[in-house]
Amino acid sequence: MTALFELNKINYSYNGGFSALTDVSLCVNTGERIAILGANGCGKSTLMRVLSGLTHPTSGNILAFGEPLTEKSLADEKFAFGFRRRIGYIFQNADAQLFSPTVREEIAFGPLQMGLARADVDVRIKDLSELMGLTALLDRAPFQLSGGEKRRVAIACVLAISPDALLLDEPTTGLDPRAQYWLVELLQRLHESGKTLITATHDLNIVTTIADRAIVFSEDHQIVADGSASDILADHDLLVRVNLIHPHLHRHNGMFHAHPHKDAHEHRS
Ligand SMILES: Nc1ncnc2c1ncn2[C@@H]1O[C@H](COP(=O)(O)OP(=O)(O)O)[C@@H](O)[C@H]1O
Ligand SMILES: [Mg+2]
Repeated sequence: MTALFELNKINYSYNGGFSALTDVSLCVNTGERIAILGANGCGKSTLMRVLSGLTHPTSGNILAFGEPLTEKSLADEKFAFGFRRRIGYIFQNADAQLFSPTVREEIAFGPLQMGLARADVDVRIKDLSELMGLTALLDRAPFQLSGGEKRRVAIACVLAISPDALLLDEPTTGLDPRAQYWLVELLQRLHESGKTLITATHDLNIVTTIADRAIVFSEDHQIVADGSASDILADHDLLVRVNLIHPHLHRHNGMFHAHPHKDAHEHRS
């Protein structure tokens, strides 16, 4: 079976100086659910941009569907078209992704680019806006929406091209608890329908629900762990070392929180 992505010793530095990814090697198979974990600035968004083909590594190589993913290969229209149709990327900042005058045209953009007939596109818009709770917003301007609404539009746009794999960068950030719950459920349904999900997050409370495998970056931009999501979340020392949790946070019933009883006891004594 051909891997969806194969990264071999990828390095990336911004402006030739600031390192953001160091010696990253990684293989992603079709149907996997992966969480990319690490503290702020460790390189998660940079990795997502590299996987999306929007940024190219400074050194090392990357294969997508067994073919090199490079500036040169993406200049080939056939390869670029196939790649863009199969890989959907939801940016950390939805504002950077939305540019159409209405939500309807925003969702239509990708499928129209893919050559779908307008009537088929309209069917997709109807189905997706129902799925994403966007029906009442179709004629609104995306830039006027709330953060959570923008994120739903951005997800609808990507689902409109029906990609095999979704790259999601901090998808729950800025969502209220109900929207977060809804998104996590959506990701579960997408996984059940066979989609590969790669989610960058520092929200540890969603990891075991949205991923089977977790990849952990250290603050010096290297992968320091790659394994089952539940094993990695149980590794308190590792999570402290990479600055994902504070040493005084504890995991209870799958959620991370401070230990009030212990602290209270320590303060009394
Ligand atoms: N446009 C940029 N120019 C220069 N440095 C950047 C840029 N974007 C990110 N970086 C740096 O690259 C590193 C990784 O950033 P990023 O991939 O955004 O991390 P994360 O998503 O994990 O927070 C950080 O040190 C950050 O300061
Ligand atoms: Mg980021």
